[in-house]
Order: sequence, then C-alpha cells, then structure tokens
Amino acid sequence: MSDGTPASAPPVITTIAALRERFPARAVALVPTMGALHEGHLALVRRAAELADEVVVSIFVNPLQFGPSEDLDRYPRDLEADLALLAPLGVAAVFAPAVDEMYPDGPPQTTLRAGELGGRLEGRTRPGHFDGMLTVVAKLIHIARPAHLLFGQKDAQQVFLVERMVRDLDLEAHVEVVETVRAADGLALSSRNRYLDESERRAALALSRALEAADSAADRGIDAVIAAAQSVLMGEEHVEVDYFEVVDPATFLPVGDDFRGTARVLIAARVGPARLIDNDAIYLN
Ligand code: PAF
Repeated sequence: MSDGTPASAPPVITTIAALRERFPARAVALVPTMGALHEGHLALVRRAAELADEVVVSIFVNPLQFGPSEDLDRYPRDLEADLALLAPLGVAAVFAPAVDEMYPDGPPQTTLRAGELGGRLEGRTRPGHFDGMLTVVAKLIHIARPAHLLFGQKDAQQVFLVERMVRDLDLEAHVEVVETVRAADGLALSSRNRYLDESERRAALALSRALEAADSAADRGIDAVIAAAQSVLMGEEHVEVDYFEVVDPATFLPVGDDFRGTARVLIAARVGPARLIDNDAIYLN
C-alpha cells in the first residue's frame, strides 16, 4: 500500500558472497562426528572454539554411509564417555539424534551423489559410502546452520568431497580442516583403532611409516616414493594394503611423472579386524 512517498527500490545484490554478508549465517561451529571420540576429535572442537562463540558437536552413527558387510553394528557407541571428554571443552551442545530423528521416513529417497570420485579409492572398497556421508553432512548443515564445519585431514577424500559439495550446492558453511592427530608412535588416531589388539596395533604403524618413507623419497620422484612405501608395507604381517596412491590435492586424481608441487599420499589397509586410512602431504620437485 502506497502513502504517496516514492518507495525506494530494494538493493540489488549480484554476488553470493555479498548476499551472505548481508544475511549472515549463525555463528555456530559444528563438529560432525560418529562418536567414539578421541584426541583427534577434541582437536577439532578446540579449533571450532577459536572460530565461533558456540560449538555444537554432532554424534550420529549414520547408517547410510555403511555398506551391508561393514561395521555399523559394532561401531563403538559410548555417549557417556564422549560427554565426559567434551565436558572440559565448553561445548554448547551435543546433537545426538536417534536414527528415526534423522530419517523419520526410513532410508531417504532423496540423497546426494558423490560423483566419479565417490567411486574411487575409499569409494571403490566402500560403494555408496560417500553418498551416505555427503547426505548426512548436508542434513546436518541444514539442521544446525553452522557458520563453520570442522573435519579432520585424516579423512582426506571425505574433506575433498565435502568441500566440493559445499561449492557445488552453494552451502553457507565454511569448511575448516584440522591436521591429523597422531599417537606418540605415529599411528593416526581413529575410532577404529579400538578394534586392534596389541600386535595388530604394532603392525598398523606400517601405515604411518610408509608415509614417512614416501616423504623421505619425495626428492627422488614419484617412482621412488612408491618404491619406498612398498618396501615398508611388503611382508608386514596383519597388513593387507587396499590402496597406496599419490594424488593431486586439487583434483584428487593420481599425479603423473611430470607433477611438481605438493601432492597427497593416501594409504588404506586392513589391519586385523580394522580398515584403517592415513595420508600425508609430500613435495615433488
Ligand atoms: O567422519 C565421520 O565421522 C563421518 O563420516 C561424518 C563426517 C560424521 C558423517 O557421518
């Protein structure tokens, strides 16, 4: 309804960044987890607290990202222990929904697809894993509306795909990646390390040692990198290598002989009952 005063035209915003600056998201940082928390998760929470006034940690073992023969049923769940670890960190809330809360109509009909990369590396051994992971992360973003979303570098392919999803779908959350936290002997912390007995845990060190060997050989080129890692892994009892690959971090495709710059070395192996992954950056010149 006009009162006779000429109405000023609404401002025109032509970029996504400007629109978002005008209508900001909430200043919450979300740390998505599946529980069974360890120091790696706590490092994410500490970094989250630097980025936002309020930190929300989600704990949800997402059935959608487990294959039929995977460890969904035995995945460690101990909410009390997780809450005790989070207590000193001043987390604003833990979001720990039941499966029915997240998927009230049963398995969702509308899901995200991780594309071609979703079927490579981790996705080759775990078909559908990344579709399920992206679907739940997108849901969590819509639910918590975080300004920041934190992930560990240990899950390098997950990080790459989440960052890609955020760009592809113009999601508002900023993705913050935190370095892998390792035990004193080099083993990357993982909730699945709990599956290992003493000798398997010792054998699992082959993963981080292979990455160290790869790094030491980097100045001799990609073939030397692969040979160095193989010599560590070969003959290691209990360790069944799934893949060892050197990728361009910009594309996640294998590097060629002519690649120069920082590459990422990825390794996945079955060690006794656990499937473990690890990765590191190397410089190829
Ligand atoms: O990395 C994880 O723990 C899970 O993949 C995540 C990101 C919490 C989604 O379920």
